[in-house]
Amino acid sequence: MAAGSVPRTRAGVRTAVVWDYLRAALGELTGTDRDLRVLDAGGGSGGFAVPLAQLGHTVTVVDPSPDSLAALERRAAETGTQDRIRALQGDAAGLPGLVDPASFDVVLCHSVLEVVDDPQEALQAIAQALRPGGVASILAANRIAAVVARVAAGRLGEARQLLTDPAGSTGAGDPLARRFSLDELQLLLAGAGLRPRMVHGVRIFTDAVPAALLDGDPQATDELLVLERAAAERPDCLAVATQLHLLADRA
Ligand SMILES: C[S@@+](CC[C@H](N)C(=O)[O-])C[C@H]1O[C@@H](n2cnc3c(N)ncnc32)[C@H](O)[C@@H]1O
Repeated sequence: MAAGSVPRTRAGVRTAVVWDYLRAALGELTGTDRDLRVLDAGGGSGGFAVPLAQLGHTVTVVDPSPDSLAALERRAAETGTQDRIRALQGDAAGLPGLVDPASFDVVLCHSVLEVVDDPQEALQAIAQALRPGGVASILAANRIAAVVARVAAGRLGEARQLLTDPAGSTGAGDPLARRFSLDELQLLLAGAGLRPRMVHGVRIFTDAVPAALLDGDPQATDELLVLERAAAERPDCLAVATQLHLLADRA
């Protein structure tokens, strides 16, 4: 399968729309197929970094988890991309001590603002690594969609907690310390000197489709992807998108 192409599974559909917009943004930057310098802050085991390296880009992953970085290095070796991937242990807020300022064409911050100690500090550090004219890709959990998902699962107490907790978390057992509204994300970006130029919804319907409808039915998966793509940019669909994806440049 080509790097970044969509596997006909629910998991594939979950990231497909992010890849659509990311590939378009990379295409605008590359023009003549120049390979780009990409920073994946909190890139984990390389779910985005490895396919980006397979596309020919050079990717630096910064992540505090040694286990994730070890998994990243294994995946890089398996895909023959080890020369294009650099793994650095550290956290997002510590980026200024790890990478040069303004040294990346693209920075990714996917599913990370939900878990860092201080999202504003982390995003500022990530933004500093971006060169003027480069693109920041920010993906974060949408609080209201999480509330709706809990209601649909009959977990009404959790739904109320997510709705009323100041950070949009259910507390100790919740893997996420916070979830966001679009307004909150836009304020965070502005505070980091980033200017959103595109916002869209990710996983607007995918998480709601019963597994039995998708299992072993590639055609249903294809139809779901068509639906996700049709809804991604509709403002009226953003509220129920599991994740919000913002592409931004330096203000
Ligand atoms: C849900 S995973 C997302 C991984 C990857 N970005 C992706 O989208 O596939 C969250 C990642 O954030 C990392 N992380 C946790 N705290 C962090 C911090 N302070 N700075 C940077 N990354 C952090 C975790 O180790 C983990 O790899």
